[in-house]
Amino acid sequence: MKNTEIIAKLNLEQKCALLSGAGTFTTRGYQKAGVPAITLSDGPNGVRKQAGAADHLGLNPSVPATCFPTAVTVACSWDPDLGEEVGKAMGEEAAAQEVAVLLGPGLNTKRSPLCGRDFEYFSEDPYLAGKMAAGYVRGIQSNGIAACPKHFAVNSQELRRMASDSVLDERTLREIYLTGFEIVVKESAPKTIMSSYNLVNGTYANENAHLLQDILRRDWGFTGAVVTDWGGSNDHALGVKNGSTLEMPAPGGDAVRELLTAVKSGKITEADVDARLDELLTLIYDTYAAVQNHSRSFDADAHHALARRAAAESTVLLKNEDSLLPLAAGTKVAVIGDFAETPRYQGAGSSAVNSIKIDSLLGCWAESGLEQVGFAAGFDRQGKPDAAKQAEAVALAQKADVVLLCMGLDEIKESEGLDRSDMCVASNQIELLRALQKVNPNIVVVLSAGASVETSWANHCKALVYGALGGQAGAGAMLDVLTGKVNPSGKLAESWAKAYSDTPARDNFAGDGRTVQYREGLYVGYRYYQTAGVAPAYPFGFGLSYTTFAYSDVKATPQGVSLTVTNTGDCEGAEIVQVYIAKPDAKIFRPAQELKGFAKVQLAAGESKRVTVALDDKAFRYWNTMTNAWEVEGGSYEVRVGASCEDIRLTAVVTVAGTGAPNPYEGKSLPHYTGGKVQNVPDAEWETLLGRPIPDDTVKIDRNMTLGELNHSRSPLCWLIWLVLHTLLTASYKKGQPNLNVMFQYNMPLRALAKMTSGAISMGMVDGIVLEAKGFWFIGLIKVILEAIKNTILNAQLESRLRNS
Ligand code: BGC
Repeated sequence: MKNTEIIAKLNLEQKCALLSGAGTFTTRGYQKAGVPAITLSDGPNGVRKQAGAADHLGLNPSVPATCFPTAVTVACSWDPDLGEEVGKAMGEEAAAQEVAVLLGPGLNTKRSPLCGRDFEYFSEDPYLAGKMAAGYVRGIQSNGIAACPKHFAVNSQELRRMASDSVLDERTLREIYLTGFEIVVKESAPKTIMSSYNLVNGTYANENAHLLQDILRRDWGFTGAVVTDWGGSNDHALGVKNGSTLEMPAPGGDAVRELLTAVKSGKITEADVDARLDELLTLIYDTYAAVQNHSRSFDADAHHALARRAAAESTVLLKNEDSLLPLAAGTKVAVIGDFAETPRYQGAGSSAVNSIKIDSLLGCWAESGLEQVGFAAGFDRQGKPDAAKQAEAVALAQKADVVLLCMGLDEIKESEGLDRSDMCVASNQIELLRALQKVNPNIVVVLSAGASVETSWANHCKALVYGALGGQAGAGAMLDVLTGKVNPSGKLAESWAKAYSDTPARDNFAGDGRTVQYREGLYVGYRYYQTAGVAPAYPFGFGLSYTTFAYSDVKATPQGVSLTVTNTGDCEGAEIVQVYIAKPDAKIFRPAQELKGFAKVQLAAGESKRVTVALDDKAFRYWNTMTNAWEVEGGSYEVRVGASCEDIRLTAVVTVAGTGAPNPYEGKSLPHYTGGKVQNVPDAEWETLLGRPIPDDTVKIDRNMTLGELNHSRSPLCWLIWLVLHTLLTASYKKGQPNLNVMFQYNMPLRALAKMTSGAISMGMVDGIVLEAKGFWFIGLIKVILEAIKNTILNAQLESRLRNS
């Protein structure tokens, strides 16, 4: 332990109190004992430091900061160095605002395009997500502060987000949902990591010994602090025992008493408390000085310029018929679409930054060199049909050489706390596109969305450019790409399915009940589409350029691959070279191919460069559930080099020595997994893969019943609460603005009342509410009242004792 001296000076109560927050974003501090308090703040695409009233949903305003492009955007750059630059700038702003821990990046796996927070995450592929996140962490921490990669782990949907149980087999857990975290931990040494809200295979992530002790700390060597997600602690004592360092936000005295009682009863030991405290004190002392010594200002213009460059380098050109793009100077353009005036540049929730300034396409137009024949909003943002707006846009389109139509998802579609209900762009936008095409076929669609959408409408435009959610400078970046100032080089970091019904988790995503069954196993994204032979609209890794590239002279060994890339067009450009590994003769089932390396190469027109991509320990391994270890199946492997997962240009064969482990699937019937056709895996086969029966899914009346499930209770009062929440939620959907507060409460378990109310509600009171929900309304009420009195008195006594620490 590093901090034995200070730990020896504190009594057990003081020690236990340090292991939970003092305020929404602050830790406790003891002046006399020399323990300073530190501040944590979101987030993943810019700093959200709340100087006034704080909340964890981005409801109250925060100090202005640069809103960088969101993770979904920067992931398309496939450039961890760019991630590092963005991280460095975010970390600088954080330190300037006296923030010691920046709560990001987010790197959960995009299991389904409908996850409401996909915009905060990098990819469906763990290798790409891990490499990008590691870049961010290195950048953030270069300022001396801590990054906090999140949410560890298997947190890929928002429905019931604080109480859903992600059920999956160990191989899928390791290969798909943990490999990104493994990369970030091993390659960038984050000082903290955030445990996720959900359970993983029946145990809350924050008290999951398998995740926190066996894997994170023992296997990967993580020595930092684990921070709970806000309100994500279930059993604080078990969290402390199993490796969770700091409970956030501010659960009050009840959490302190919970630990004291647990030590007294022997549920945990004082040594457990000391171990966690040592991690916390190391974090505090490590970051406190950096924050204190940091300048209080930063160069906002330079950060805006970086945000613009990052957005430009991440823009993906999906279609460019007749080389309509780039637009030459002086082209007469009709600018159409509400998003040109009011951009959609970030997502809603805890990641939302109070941007220093926000560029719009209209606002930046003057610097583009293009002629604007006019602007028309064209459609109602929330999807209501509006014939007048459409007619105005159609009239305008007739006066132009080219129509620039800004389409996208509106604010309610993508938000923390709410999964999307479909992959569609509003039909009034598609209708407008069709109407415009009739009068002017030269249509460039600019798409703002934080996740993939169905694009059957794309045959009505000649060019399609995906800007994702480009941050505060995204509009200028888009104009740079449209005019050719920047040659687009972004490639999709997720597959775009033709239709939601094609997606592998279609029937097992965000359903009723407490469990989420990850039945599709390893077959997430392109791993599914390519193995099952389902053609997506745009494959993983796809993106066009204004130039073309040729690949030649491949040489491969098990340690790496090299090849020559030549720019065969007439303008400078960058190409993202992707390396996939395949084993067509595999005995142990595996996806058709998997990304195991990539490189971005900048080439002048006509230039050739030799590119080398290293293959690391992850290239050939698979998780063997019999030996409980990473193993390698021996034999020949194809090293495939491509411009996307579908556009493989070169292949080499290497021979790899195997580890000789037994085949864990020998004699088992797993036809769906062998062939990758995993949309309809029967129960028996799923149980075979899982190695146990499918867990019970029924809603129970207990501390973890969500407010949205109170209709299943036996109490009229609870039914009333449910009705009010349900009505407010429905009203917010109709209004088109996400009511984050209501959404959060709807998915919040009763236990969170004791975790999110700064100590006003204790777990004893929650137990009274549970009795109420079970129908014992009188006993429940009495328990709530008695526990409330007890909690108030004990909290006041505790805080007065701690004040003198
Ligand atoms: C989110 C986290 C965020 C935290 C603090 C939670 O609701 O899940 O990602 O960092 O709030 O705002």
